[in-house]
Amino acid sequence: MAEQTSGQTNMEKLVSLCQRRGFIFPSSEIYGGLSSCWDYGPLGVELKQNVKQAWWRAIVRERDDMVGLDASILMHPKVWEASGHLEGFSDPLVECKSCHLRWRTDELKDNSCPSCGGEVTEPHLFNLMFKTFMGPIEEEANVVYLRPETAQGIFVNFQNVLNTTRKRLPFGIAQMGKAFRNEITTGNFIFRSREFEQMEIEYFVKPGTAEEWFDYWLEERRNWYVNLGIKKENLRLRPHTEEELAHYARKCSDIDFLFPMGWAELEGIANRGDFDLVQHAKYSGKSLSYLDEETNEHIVPYIIEPSAGVDRSVLAFLCDAYAEEPDKEEIRVLLHLHPDLAPIKVAVLPLSKRENLVQFAKEIYADLRACWMVQYDDTQSIGRRYRRQDEIGTPFCVTIDFQSLEDNQVTIRERDSMNQIRLPIAELKETLAAKLAGEELFVLPPGGQIWKEGGNESQN
Ligand code: GAP
Repeated sequence: MAEQTSGQTNMEKLVSLCQRRGFIFPSSEIYGGLSSCWDYGPLGVELKQNVKQAWWRAIVRERDDMVGLDASILMHPKVWEASGHLEGFSDPLVECKSCHLRWRTDELKDNSCPSCGGEVTEPHLFNLMFKTFMGPIEEEANVVYLRPETAQGIFVNFQNVLNTTRKRLPFGIAQMGKAFRNEITTGNFIFRSREFEQMEIEYFVKPGTAEEWFDYWLEERRNWYVNLGIKKENLRLRPHTEEELAHYARKCSDIDFLFPMGWAELEGIANRGDFDLVQHAKYSGKSLSYLDEETNEHIVPYIIEPSAGVDRSVLAFLCDAYAEEPDKEEIRVLLHLHPDLAPIKVAVLPLSKRENLVQFAKEIYADLRACWMVQYDDTQSIGRRYRRQDEIGTPFCVTIDFQSLEDNQVTIRERDSMNQIRLPIAELKETLAAKLAGEELFVLPPGGQIWKEGGNESQN
């Protein structure tokens, strides 16, 4: 886990921004919060949805060899016997005989309680799955579990997907959704919580080709983060040692990110071999094999699993986007979020609250919001409004002034460079669409002008 302090983004500052601006709140805050559970506020929910959409687009929509799935959270209890979660998904814990706090054995420095120094018990295994009951009677026969990973929903639907889509190997099934783990040690904001979301791929391949697909997915997944704004130098691959490998894995490598508390796992990529399909076939009594048309033989595919955390991805994107820049006597705080991820794409800002200007600006706002998540703001000075949008990562502001009423032109101001350009309203939507898609900024007509906020005119 954490080995080195990043020093780049201060977690306290990030948490404070998230709370102040409505990205992320502690769960049930008015009751004092619920340990390690978090609520995504108005901006957080947009950011999180954008992360998931970017993943779905890259993994499902833009590929021929992938399909999606949304399996239920509650599953037949036998699933967890077959998967090994009932037996193996546990941490050894000791309990302090004086203060009764429980600790993972790897948290102990010596054989005493890290909190009060008291004597601790022998370790006992503690299962991380949340238990509940199906139906009104709370008895052992009705126990079900909240899924600790989304992956099992994919394995048990392998044959359904194969029969209904006629996919041939290699192909994958992707799923995102909630997972629950009664983690012993939580913390570092949304890095490790008890309720979180995963984005998982189970990629089915012919045995003998697993190694090359493993390498392929490592590269593919690393590029996904980089293309969305994660700095290359803040990512590393960390292969698991033999001792670390989970019971189902033949090989595994983490994609680590340099979080403020140090290097830690962002996503895990595993070669699960045929473990899951063999286990579920055994426990369900159903065949989960695949007819290889080339050899006319039934085979059990191997599985490559790139398994990412939505919340950890959100945290990584926020960490790498956060910046503080000197701005005259003050500090400009901004989030350099990739336009695909930014919660608000465009802010519409009339220079004054005069009725005719407000009405004009609201018409532009209504037009733009049909295309994107757009915010309208007419309170306080324009400088303050720009800063507010910088702080939440809005890539573009559209400013409407009195001249706009006369010449039907508005100003677009870009978040990162603070460059501004004036252009006809008729070209506004098309220009914003191009800029949000990452096209070259502000290609000017001859004689056109770019200027910096607060001066510095330049001409091309
Ligand atoms: N199906 C394989 C699997 O679940 P994992 O390494 O236990 O593997 C995959 O989890 C990803 O899920 C992790 O890389 C992490 O991003 C996320 N994750 C796991 N536990 C988490 C927790 N308690 N809080 C937030 N994210 C978590």
